[in-house]
Amino acid sequence: MDTYTLVNGISIPRIGYGTWKNLNPKECVNGIKYALELGFKHIDCARVYANEKLVGQGILESGVERKDIFITSKLRNSAHGYEHVRKEVEATLADLNTDYLDLYLIHWPVVAGHQEDWREDNLDTWKAFEELYEEGKLKAIGVSNFSVNHLENLVENARIAPMVNQILIHPGVLLTEEMEYCRKHDILLEAYSPLAPLSVLTKNETFQKIMANHGKSPAQILIRFILELGALPLTKTIHPSRMSENLHVNDFSLTKEEMDFLATWSHPDFTPRDNQKERPPQALDAKI
Ligand SMILES: NC(=O)c1ccc[n+]([C@@H]2O[C@H](COP(=O)([O-])OP(=O)(O)OC[C@H]3O[C@@H](n4cnc5c(N)ncnc54)[C@H](OP(=O)(O)O)[C@@H]3O)[C@@H](O)[C@H]2O)c1
Repeated sequence: MDTYTLVNGISIPRIGYGTWKNLNPKECVNGIKYALELGFKHIDCARVYANEKLVGQGILESGVERKDIFITSKLRNSAHGYEHVRKEVEATLADLNTDYLDLYLIHWPVVAGHQEDWREDNLDTWKAFEELYEEGKLKAIGVSNFSVNHLENLVENARIAPMVNQILIHPGVLLTEEMEYCRKHDILLEAYSPLAPLSVLTKNETFQKIMANHGKSPAQILIRFILELGALPLTKTIHPSRMSENLHVNDFSLTKEEMDFLATWSHPDFTPRDNQKERPPQALDAKI
């Protein structure tokens, strides 16, 4: 699979397989096995998804060697703080049956109890990320859901700048300022939920024409859109046929007019997230 190169020289497969909401054990394990069999080499996990053991089992059962898979995980919101990070990483490593992560992210910038002092909280948390990176346990480090002010805090005050920012990106929700900042500072953008507007856009006439122009499915157009923005799409499905579809997006390009339509399309169902607000405790967070 094609790769992007992170600022520290590490290669990252250009499309990732997401694991959010894969809580059914059989579906989760089989999903990982099918994804690896069909050609995904990049798996996006998070402690708060509460399924890392199942993901680890899927990887083991797939027979694919660890060195051939790029694995990301994320620090859950209730485990911010220098003193918690190492233990969290160890728990994730144990569940995933591995002794290193290719990428580890702070899941959310502003968490319960740190609405006012999120700057100090993120810098304190990040110090542990830097140490684990230097020890080689984390091959790359980054953030998720960070807006420009959150990014600036780390870029200007930390020893090592974040290498990735994983955010919501799809037509209807382009976080232009964040995207510009990341491009300028060599922070790779990862796009989560790229297929969110799929059912709404499929009814749109211009979108239907774009699909017909290329003979591609709605998901393939939306994934191609992310790639042409220079970002890395993360998609999740439990269906092998959709996995294949989501991977086969390299044999066409969108025109400037098609890109402009997708970049400026708006719909009341889709509004950018407010990342400045404290993240409400995630339902699963309390269980871990
Ligand atoms: N950092 C964060 O805060 C954050 C937030 C959200 C997500 N993420 C990560 O990003 C990943 C992707 O986001 P997402 O799960 O919201 O993803 P998505 O891939 O945009 O959407 C997933 C939905 O689309 C369906 N789907 C997938 N491929 C399809 C296709 N080819 N045709 C039609 N429907 C299709 C899936 O259904 P089926 O499974 O039934 O096929 C599922 O309902 C997550 O799994 C997670 O790893 C991170």
